[in-house]
This record gives sequence, C-alpha cells and structure tokens, in this order.
Amino acid sequence: MATALRERWTSRATFIFAAIGSAIGLGNVWRFPYLTYEYGGGVFLIPYIIGLILIGIPWMVMEFGMGRYFQRGAPGVFEGIGKKWEWLGWWPFFAAFLIVTYYTVVIAWCLIYTVSSATVAWGVGQAGVQGAEGYFFNTVLGLSSGPGVLGGLQWPIVGMLLLTWVIIFLIMFRGAKVIGRVSVWGVSVAWAFLAILVVRGLTLPGVVEGLNFYLDPNFSALANPKIWFAAFSQIAFSLSVGMAGMFAYGSFVTKKGDVSNSAVITSIADTSTSFFAGFAIFSTAGYIMQALNIPIQEVALRSMGLAFVGFPVAISVMPALNAFIGVIFFLCLFFLGLTSAYFLAYGGVAVPLMDKFGWGRVKASIIVCVVSFLAGLIYATQGGLYWLDIVDRTASFYLLLITGALACIVIGWVFGAKKLREYVNETSDIKLGAWFDWLLKVIAPAGLLFVAIYGGFAQDIATPYSGYPLWAASIIWILLVVTLVVSFILQAIKTRTPAGGEIEERKVS
Ligand code: PHE
Repeated sequence: MATALRERWTSRATFIFAAIGSAIGLGNVWRFPYLTYEYGGGVFLIPYIIGLILIGIPWMVMEFGMGRYFQRGAPGVFEGIGKKWEWLGWWPFFAAFLIVTYYTVVIAWCLIYTVSSATVAWGVGQAGVQGAEGYFFNTVLGLSSGPGVLGGLQWPIVGMLLLTWVIIFLIMFRGAKVIGRVSVWGVSVAWAFLAILVVRGLTLPGVVEGLNFYLDPNFSALANPKIWFAAFSQIAFSLSVGMAGMFAYGSFVTKKGDVSNSAVITSIADTSTSFFAGFAIFSTAGYIMQALNIPIQEVALRSMGLAFVGFPVAISVMPALNAFIGVIFFLCLFFLGLTSAYFLAYGGVAVPLMDKFGWGRVKASIIVCVVSFLAGLIYATQGGLYWLDIVDRTASFYLLLITGALACIVIGWVFGAKKLREYVNETSDIKLGAWFDWLLKVIAPAGLLFVAIYGGFAQDIATPYSGYPLWAASIIWILLVVTLVVSFILQAIKTRTPAGGEIEERKVS
C-alpha cells in the first residue's frame, strides 16, 4: 500500500455536504435571526452579503485551496509555506479544540431537552411559561452564583456529553468517507426538521407581527458601524472558517476537484439556512407575543435564551403538537450541532495531530475524544455556563478573527494570492479574477482586524468582559497567550511527514 496516500471524499457531493454541515450550526438559529432583527431587519442582508463576498467566500476558497495544495491540515499548510509559519496553523487548532469542548456541552443540553420535551417537563400552559427559566437554570444547569463557584457536576449533562462524544468518535474514527456520508444525512435531516418548524411557525397566529419584527427594513441602520461589525463577525463564525478544519476538509479533495464553486455553494447554503431559520424563530416569537400579550423585548430571542427558555415557553403554550414540535426543535439543533462538532474534532484537532506526529486515525480519534470530553467537564459543573461564555469569547471571537486575519496576510503575501488563485482556477468551475488577490491580501484581513479591535479589544480592555470579576475576564487574555506560546512549542517539534506541496496522487495497491 502506498504510504503517503491521503484519504479522500467519496464524491464531490459528500465533500460539499460535509462542508455545509460544518458551517450550519446553532449560530444559524440563535444568532443570525436575532442579529437581523436587532440591526435593521431585512436591511441586515446588505452588509451580510457584502461581507460574504468580500471576506467570507475568499476566506473559504483560501482554506479549501491551501488544504488541497499541501494535502495537509492547517499546521501542515503553514509549515509548507515556511517552517517559521507553522505556529499559525496551531493557533486556530486551539480555537477548534476550545470550541469543541463547549459546543458538545450545548449539544448535550439539546439531548436533555429532547427527552424532556417529550413530556414538556417544565410544564404546559401558564405553568410552563413560569417554569421554563427555572427549569433551565436551576434544574438542568444548577447554576451557581459566579465563575468562582464551580459546585458539583450536573450528572445528566455529563451522561449526555459522554453519549455525544461516543457518537462523534464512531463517526470520526473512520475518517472522511464516513464523515461525508453521515453529513449528507445529518444536513438533510436538520433541513427537514427546520422546514417542519417553519411550517408550524407560519401556521400559528401572530405570524405577521413576528415576521415584521424580523424583516421590516430600516435603511438608516446601514450608517451604524455596529451593523457592519455584527455582519462580519457572524459571517466568520457561521462559515466555520478560521477553525483549522476547512484546511483539512480541503485536503481530502482530489487534485482534479473543484474549490471555488464548492466554497460558493457552501456559503449560499449556510446563508439560506440562517435566513430560513429566522422564519421559524420569528413566527414563533410573534405567537408568544400574542398568546402571552407581551412586547417583543420580553421574548428571549437569542443565544441559549432562545433555545432553552424562549422556545420552551412557546412549546408550553402552543395550541397543538407541543411535545412533537419540542422534540423536532431540539433534534434539529442536535443535528446542526453534531455535523459541526465532528468537523472541529476531526478536521480541526485530529488531522493536524495525525499530520504532525504520524498517528493513525483511531489513535488520534481516541485521544481527541477522551481529552475533549474531560476538558468539557468544567462546563458540566454548576459554574459551567460562565466558563462557557468566557471561553466562547476567547475562541469564537478573538482567536477566530486574529488567526483568520493573519492567515489571509501570510497566504496572500508570502505564499502569494496570485499563485493560489491560478492554482484554484486550474480545476474550478468558477474562475477567480485578479480582484481575488486584493480581497485576500488587504480587504479581508483589514475587515477582520477592524472587528477584533473595535468590536472586541476596545470594549473588553475598558471594562471586563460581560461584567465578570477581573480575574475571570482575564482568562481571555491568558488563554490567548498560552495557546500562542504552545503553538510555537509545537512548531519547534520536528514533523514526521513534512508537507510537500502538490503531492502526487498515488494508487492504492
Ligand atoms: N458555524 C457554526 C454555527 O453557525 C458554529 C461553529 C463555528 C461550529 C466553528 C464549528 C466551528 O453554529
């Protein structure tokens, strides 16, 4: 058997579904619709689509294209550009690792809620309206008074977390082949469930009012720089770029495979999923407003609040199909999350380790799953929600934006945007023009750094993030520095199989 043989997607469709699965996730449901409502209604699509074209798509083309060129995950790609750049592939590896440790805990909550929705455990009718918040914070999380009080482990969360990791292991240890096939199903099921939720939402009373809040355009919002920050950071988060994983997914594409069209399809599918999810969320919100006679401000519409308080309230007061819709909603979140979680665990964390140390897939998968499960236990404690929030800020905001901007700069200027473009154009359906070079070299990194500085540093340095005590908010800076230092240490260790660049495809014998 040829030793240097890279694993491959079984078809172009499985690659695209795997990429779509990694991009669509909880953020499409609980971030995008809310941001749209908050920042100008339908007008939010303007900065979002502009950002997608200027930053998001070039970034994804870059990750797929570079992964395919060097046939390696993120660290191998940067090592291939020059040994001194390898750290820049390890830094986002830590973003992937940190994110997957808590993302899987949220998936575990979804599993708990899938079970408790079957009986609407927080109560039906008015009881449920009053009970939903307490059920989440007290019963499920047992939330403590602050990040300094960890309390004990919440065993149902630990159990579901273990189950989640067993499922991830069973998918990832067989590599791209199985990941591709599972993604086709996972994405299809998530979309089907989302469609059920949209139909249910649109057939509830109050739908017009709810959708008005979602989409009613407010053109003056475009003048507010915040709407642009919000759009750019949501694009980066939603496309799942900047997490090391897309390099690995690109490295499983054959030498004849398309890159740019796949990136465009993935981006369009992700954006459409977000837009579509907004119909489910805001039609349901319109119903809550009408049923409880409350203003929209009192409906929990974003983040965990939406999933684990707002939607449960809706389930409690729906006129029919309550438990059914509850189960569908949480299973939908589960599938959305799962396809992103194994992307992070395999493409973001395991593949770089396999490339670097020559580990086999099974060994890498066992180590990654066990270590990530154990690291995730901190979020299964009573203070876990606070830690989750702090680590989320570190990884999915700062690490994502900073390493993304640096990657665009190094690939654009050192490797060469033109070289990448010409390489990608050789085999891609969509041919990129010279404009691509400038987007990658200047516009994308400038946009990302702008968001990190004005939307992040400027605030978090002035006042500790989210009102946490200084020591807790400082964990952000400590994690950024520690992961950077360890990235350099990993760079110093000799690589087992250095990336060659344009490695020949060999036949399996
Ligand atoms: N893109 C995912 C979402 O929108 C979030 C995510 C980011 C998942 C990074 C994995 C990696 O929910």
